[in-house]
Amino acid sequence: MLTVIDAIKNRRSIRKYKLAPVPDEVILELLECARLAPSAHNSQPWRFVVLKDETIRKELRQYAYGLQFVESAPCVIVCCVDLGAHSVRTTRRRLKELLVAGVLDDVGEVNYDPLASVAEGDDAHLQRFLESCRFNSAIATEHIVLAALAFGLGTCWIHMFQPGKVHKLLKLPDNIVVVSLLALGYPDQSPPPRPRLPLSDIILTPIPQACSPGIETR
Ligand SMILES: Cc1cc2nc3c(=O)[nH]c(=O)nc-3n(C[C@H](O)[C@H](O)[C@H](O)COP(=O)(O)O)c2cc1C
Repeated sequence: MLTVIDAIKNRRSIRKYKLAPVPDEVILELLECARLAPSAHNSQPWRFVVLKDETIRKELRQYAYGLQFVESAPCVIVCCVDLGAHSVRTTRRRLKELLVAGVLDDVGEVNYDPLASVAEGDDAHLQRFLESCRFNSAIATEHIVLAALAFGLGTCWIHMFQPGKVHKLLKLPDNIVVVSLLALGYPDQSPPPRPRLPLSDIILTPIPQACSPGIETR
């Protein structure tokens, strides 16, 4: 059984996929792993659209600057957030659940409503809020990425695309914001580890002697 450490160390971004489809039960298990991700005040704003249809992946490709594997991967997961997950009512409900679960002792004031910001055209407020939503979405998406390895699957995050166009293509409602795309399928390549900064570049305090140096890139 693959450990989490193995998954982290063996993961690569995969850009060549076999034609074999990903079974639905495997996709569901991956989305279950996303569901269990942590989020700010347990807001769980992530939503996913699973695209397996070849015609729609072909259309999607044109909104991802022609990226070939958007079309050739047997599955693309469109990772979104639901602004409604942060409405005052829903936030109060989530906080109450945490109170009942014994996580919180007290539920503070909740008065920010992102949907009201959209309605009022308060873009600065909305952008700050969306940043927090994107954090949460990214954590859930990385759960999928790592869990995929347990099924012999490969993934590649995609941020080079036009979220507004994808939103329109998929006819998503206004409360849904598209955050990223994730290609998913059985790898048809086995890339070596990509370069990374050494630990000494990323730890801002003196490095403990026992630390491995990581893969040096220079
Ligand atoms: C948030 C994010 C966005 C990315 N966007 C793209 C992308 O648009 N196109 C692409 O080919 N790779 C994309 N990647 C993959 C990165 O290029 C890759 O993670 C990096 O080069 C390191 O390689 P590795 O993932 O194989 O270790 C993205 C990765 C992340 C985490």
